[in-house]
Amino acid sequence: MVDYKGKLVLAPMVRAGELPTRLLALKYGADLVWGPEIIDKKLLTCDRVVNEKLGTVDFLSRDKTKVPGVTNLIFRTHPSLEDSKLIFQMGTANPDLAVDAAKIIINDVSGIDINAGCPKHFSIHAGMGAALLKTPDLLESILINLVEKIGKPNNKPISVKIRLLPEEEDSLNLIEKLLKTGITNLTVHCRTQLMRNRETPIRDYVDKIKAKCDEYKVSFIVNGSVLNRKDFNKLQEQYGTDVGGMIATTAEENPTCFSESPLNWPRLLREYTEIAQKFGNYEGNTKYMLTRMTPGRSFAYQLIARAKTYEEFYKVFDKLNEDGTEKKYEPKVVKKEEKETRKHKVDNEEPSDPIPEKRQQLEQISA
Ligand SMILES: Cc1cc2nc3c(=O)[nH]c(=O)nc-3n(C[C@H](O)[C@H](O)[C@H](O)COP(=O)(O)O)c2cc1C
Repeated sequence: MVDYKGKLVLAPMVRAGELPTRLLALKYGADLVWGPEIIDKKLLTCDRVVNEKLGTVDFLSRDKTKVPGVTNLIFRTHPSLEDSKLIFQMGTANPDLAVDAAKIIINDVSGIDINAGCPKHFSIHAGMGAALLKTPDLLESILINLVEKIGKPNNKPISVKIRLLPEEEDSLNLIEKLLKTGITNLTVHCRTQLMRNRETPIRDYVDKIKAKCDEYKVSFIVNGSVLNRKDFNKLQEQYGTDVGGMIATTAEENPTCFSESPLNWPRLLREYTEIAQKFGNYEGNTKYMLTRMTPGRSFAYQLIARAKTYEEFYKVFDKLNEDGTEKKYEPKVVKKEEKETRKHKVDNEEPSDPIPEKRQQLEQISA
């Protein structure tokens, strides 16, 4: 069974937490990766399809779709690259639906996490996400049902991610109730439902939460403004090496932030895009990620915002220097004799002449 203790992990992120982001995060040192939240009812509309071409396992919805295989792709995992590392996050407000949905996915993931922290209207109006913090009995029964019917029979961990309640005592009481359900990990986003991500998280009683988790032998992951590997090291110095850390916003901007030496953004854009293209990531999603990774003040930002296809993304990258500045192309003055030689070469159909290909690239860049 996967152990979450002391791990630095990629947070669940709708839109941002698709396969390319997760693979990049793993390559650069994330210990575990959470998938984006997927709602139980949506998962229940899915068929599991092995994608031989990409080496992935795809979950495709049977609901009406514009582009079959693309717009109905609900979840994609790479079984060998994500082996023992992937935690599936589910949105639910119903213990039975949660179990039925978990049965569809459990063999392809290493654990199931319940989202009890999302403050968005979409979640809370349906009783999911942060709404579950106000219905603790329901949250408790969802977790117990999953532990008994999915976790134990499959020897896989069930976990939950919560936010803090406005009062410390209420938070600690809720946490104690959840720790008794048989979950193996508790992640706490150290902000309340009303707090925005730019606000400083509340860490005043993290040590008390940690003590409760220790008492019930449940691992504990701190979330909220954990920025990178160095920051995580400091967190562990303060709370112990068995405390985990979860990164969202900075990992969205740079999924290599798990490394001691993350990529700079121009290299990041290329490496991310190569992975995204290799695994057939929807171009709209790749573009969204590229806009998150590119500094708004950079000349490249507007170009990416206008680009739509992989070819167009690469054209933008070709204009980028390593330091993020724009490449300047001096129009080359071709001497008369050189012109003659080139003409001669073309006439002779020299196959190894690299000039036309290079020129074509340059023309594309300046188009
Ligand atoms: C783009 C984005 C999408 C998110 N989607 C989810 C989600 O699907 N499930 C979830 O529990 N939290 C989600 N969150 C919240 C994060 O997981 C995390 O709790 C929050 O951003 C605080 O971490 P941070 O301070 O590192 O950003 C999302 C956050 C962002 C920025």
